[in-house]
Amino acid sequence: MSKRITITAALPYTNGPIHIGHLAGVYVPADIYARYLRLQGNDVAFICGSDEHGVPITIKAKKEGVTPQDIVDKYDAIIRKSFSDFGITFDNYSRTSAEIHHKTASDFFKNLYDKGEFIEEVTEQLYDAEANQFLADRFVVGTCPKCGNEESYGDQCEVCGTSHNATDLIDPKSAITGATPVLKETKHWFLPLDKHEAFLKEWIIEGHKKDWKPNVYGQCKSWIDDGLRPRAVTRDLDWGIPVPVEGGEGKVLYVWFDAPIGYISSTKEWAEREGKDWEPYWKDEDTKLVHFIGKDNIVFHCIIFPSMLKAHGDYVLPENVPANEFLNLEGNKLSTSKNWAVWLHEYLEEFPEKQDVLRYVLTANAPETKDNDFTWKDFQARNNNELVAIFGNFINRVVVLTNKYYEGVVPTPGELTEVDKETLAAVKAYPEVIASSIERYRFREASQELMNLARLGNKYLADEEPWKVIKEDEARTKTIMYVALQIASALAIVSEPFLPFTSKKLKKILRLTQNGNVIPTEQGTSDEESLTWNTVSEGAELLPANHQIGKQELLFTKVEDKEVQAQLDKLEASKKANEAANKTVEPQKEEITWEDFSKLDIRVGTIIEAEKMPKAKKLLVLKVDTGIDVRTIVSGIAESFTAEEVVGKKVTVLVNLAPRKLRGVESEGMILMTETAEGQLVFVNPDEKEQVANGLTIS
Ligand code: 2FM
Ligand code: ZN
Repeated sequence: MSKRITITAALPYTNGPIHIGHLAGVYVPADIYARYLRLQGNDVAFICGSDEHGVPITIKAKKEGVTPQDIVDKYDAIIRKSFSDFGITFDNYSRTSAEIHHKTASDFFKNLYDKGEFIEEVTEQLYDAEANQFLADRFVVGTCPKCGNEESYGDQCEVCGTSHNATDLIDPKSAITGATPVLKETKHWFLPLDKHEAFLKEWIIEGHKKDWKPNVYGQCKSWIDDGLRPRAVTRDLDWGIPVPVEGGEGKVLYVWFDAPIGYISSTKEWAEREGKDWEPYWKDEDTKLVHFIGKDNIVFHCIIFPSMLKAHGDYVLPENVPANEFLNLEGNKLSTSKNWAVWLHEYLEEFPEKQDVLRYVLTANAPETKDNDFTWKDFQARNNNELVAIFGNFINRVVVLTNKYYEGVVPTPGELTEVDKETLAAVKAYPEVIASSIERYRFREASQELMNLARLGNKYLADEEPWKVIKEDEARTKTIMYVALQIASALAIVSEPFLPFTSKKLKKILRLTQNGNVIPTEQGTSDEESLTWNTVSEGAELLPANHQIGKQELLFTKVEDKEVQAQLDKLEASKKANEAANKTVEPQKEEITWEDFSKLDIRVGTIIEAEKMPKAKKLLVLKVDTGIDVRTIVSGIAESFTAEEVVGKKVTVLVNLAPRKLRGVESEGMILMTETAEGQLVFVNPDEKEQVANGLTIS
């Protein structure tokens, strides 16, 4: 029975192009899901758009000396093109700068405001006095109170995924000027998540324990168990959707308030264009709503947006949120700022015909249950050993032999042997096996089952050996080729969600139309019935005898070693450029007098104990014998030295520095360090005379 399904894919930020991590985490699985459901005959709305508000866009604009609108226009165009180039079949791709979105988000806010769903409060927020600006979200960097990551953003820690308020950060710094912010009063509107706690507990903890992915369920549970607090949904910024109520002048909606509403406005835009009614796609209880996102978006889609929808009152809630973990690249985190990425637009310049290869590799190696690594070697192996050697090879043999023996006309089969019957029965079972994986959001597994169908075809040909049989039994050869052609047709249909470009090409070779109908030909019959996913699973004949197929064309080509090497070289160049860019020579500090210098009491000491400060990447807690006493010194050298290797070291210590508490431990002095020309941190060691002090680095 046909179902109505609204599928959303996270709206990408338009502050940069998109890379393989985005494709693997969100858009390829969402597209496979949407294509599969359409092939099943369902009523699908696959919705996305550009997320054009928020602080990162304003930071990027400032950096480039252009307006935020310039930035979003530029990346919206690049991102749209990448999606279309990779065959992502959104029914609508909108933008949060669109008027329809501004109105929808504004109305949504007003609706909750009028119902008294917000708390209005004057609170102290971080303020950069130098920049004369409140510091929301990514305008602040500091230490995450949950995991100790020292580079957490004001709204979210990218290491542990925790979402927090900027004022929760330890040791916050302004991302604009580097200044330590002060607190200043300002009025904002808060969504009282605590008020929705009971509903969230029942809906998620009790209702979705079994069907949500463990990573998603676990994150939600931990959030709810920690206790939910009101979250500000407005910001002091000049880029975004103006707060549409009294007192909201100069303030905008928080980007995470307006972005998910973007799914609704994009649906409206689509419905208007198609002459449909958008409301059932969001409000009818029979609609299945599924959000495809990356793991850093879990809290917003499982806790905050559902609380907003619930507060509004007339929307359905997501039935599932199959969030993926992260994809790494060659062992390192994908990073836009470090240019450690495979950008989709660049990939296509280098591999213009290989969209499906990337789709396949990213699916076969998707970070579904844990973070995964993309390597160019694996890309090459999956292409050469699976797509070329299994899928491509099978199709190639079938098409070449059909052309060679029968001038491309599907032969009339004789009586089927047991092997033939078993093979066709196995083919018939595949759509259900693949469907079951897709419906449980196991796209990796589904892609491997698809490859198993191609393997089945290869094995059938290898076992039945038509190229030998033809010498003595022409009738049997016809049956073998007929069966092989049915397998090839099944592949053309079932591969469509995963390998849409290949499926299209294969349908063209086999002369199946895009929706699966056999194209009528002079010699062949026409098949009135539409060949879809279900036609394969019903075991119906897919290519009738006498049907004319086309000529052989290669579906896949090999990836050569030198192509892999070129990609690795490119990454190496990024690494080097990044290192060079980070190597800035600090200007000389203000001159000091001899008197200033003579105030420093510098002595030779010995480290007698050392241990790592828990939850702090950079800090070691040392016990140092200074000759006067044994004292505790907290030193920021843990990224360069282990605790074990520094014990027993002679060091130069500044002993009369005023004590200072670091993470609750009082530090009574400072170990003096210097840096080599290569940027390596070394001790100013009284025993190592060759050491040249090229500027003391204080740690
Ligand atoms: O993480 C991101 O890239 C966000 N722009 C996702 C937004 S999803 C949604 F809610 F719109
Ligand atoms: Zn954290």
